[in-house]
Amino acid sequence: MTSLSVDETIARAVEVLRENDQGAYTIPTKGLYPFQWNWDSCLTALGLAHYDEARAWTEIETLFAHQWPDGMVPHIVFHVWSDGYFPGPEVWRTGRPTATSGITQPAVAGFAVRRLFDRASDKTLAAERAGALLPKIDAWHRWFYENRDPKSEGLVAIIHPWESGRDNSIDWDDAFERVPTEGVEPYIRRDILHADPAHRPTREQYDRYLWLLQHFRGLGWDNARLHDASPFQVVDPGFNAILIRASADLADLAEALGEAEIANANRARAKKGLAAMERLWSDAHGQYLCLDRITGKLVGSASVGGILPAFAAIPESRAAAIGATVQRLAGKARHVVPSHDPDDPRFDAKRYWRGPIWLVVNYMIADGLMAAGESHRRERIRRILRSIQRRTLWGRPVHLDSRHGAGVPAKRLAGVCNGEHYTPKSPSHTI
Ligand code: DGY
Repeated sequence: MTSLSVDETIARAVEVLRENDQGAYTIPTKGLYPFQWNWDSCLTALGLAHYDEARAWTEIETLFAHQWPDGMVPHIVFHVWSDGYFPGPEVWRTGRPTATSGITQPAVAGFAVRRLFDRASDKTLAAERAGALLPKIDAWHRWFYENRDPKSEGLVAIIHPWESGRDNSIDWDDAFERVPTEGVEPYIRRDILHADPAHRPTREQYDRYLWLLQHFRGLGWDNARLHDASPFQVVDPGFNAILIRASADLADLAEALGEAEIANANRARAKKGLAAMERLWSDAHGQYLCLDRITGKLVGSASVGGILPAFAAIPESRAAAIGATVQRLAGKARHVVPSHDPDDPRFDAKRYWRGPIWLVVNYMIADGLMAAGESHRRERIRRILRSIQRRTLWGRPVHLDSRHGAGVPAKRLAGVCNGEHYTPKSPSHTI
């Protein structure tokens, strides 16, 4: 593979973003993902900001324009009709004015908005746009703790694997056994028309995704009931760490904008969440693990979800242990951090979140390790990220086979082109 210069890489990143830009929102990729996805969009905004700050704010505002009255921000907004994706709005049937899905996704918005604000060259515009988003993001954070942490433990559960963004992670396998498949309405998958079925979740997993969707739909998408009624309730450390980091970032931003109440509420959420994260730590694995809220047990599955907490202000000793785990993984895989430990017999180098490397989570891990002072590991991750991003933009792969580094051709994903590693304007911010 010919290697690209930094300028060429930036040009290609911009090309991919423009290709997926729908005017007021960005689709993750043509074909496979033809609508607006929640966390993809927030991360994409960071890339857009490098050449159009106003457009970057619009990206997040469009998403929040479809926030539910209870505060939830849905994982998909179906702005336009397209028969290229399943399950579409006719399956979700959430009854929203513009159709949306009925579940949520990792809460990266608070982090993204703070970063947009910090890097903005137009500070007046940034204060105005961030100020209007603040109460909406705060309402979403409140929604999480009210609806997904019923015992007020400081950690929220996901009730559908799609909420994690790591759709078919090995983390969900055991809890997924409890999800029945009887009564699932007949369906035709569209994803495998766009991507190699060997890289996608299995049919059995799809049956379970669909069973949960139908179950929640049968409960009228009433968020006050869904958590307790779900046979799948998993506390994902990565998901919680993103929410904790976003809460801390929102608190800082609110302080800067003179919104003391929002600042205090988010500071308190972050503090409680960080303390509660200790329950998920595993010395044996050198990382955090998922907690199955129904069995009350930690899930013995070493995925990137347990390394991602480096993104939040976890204790120094935990960050150092995670740094050592990343180093250990680097000895086994050509690139780090793979979505799952290659030593696990269930590791599957090409199947979506069961082995391949994903740029966006590595970006967050590196950002966190940098803040924790794990600088030599951060340097290694930074170099690896550059090489991955160049490969990613060269062809069409979005994730990489972690053992050999071969691209898994899937899509030109806008979220990976967030340009964070190549900003010519502010090299000190690059990771
Ligand atoms: C999919 O359909 O593949 C998505 O990840 C669900 O959001």
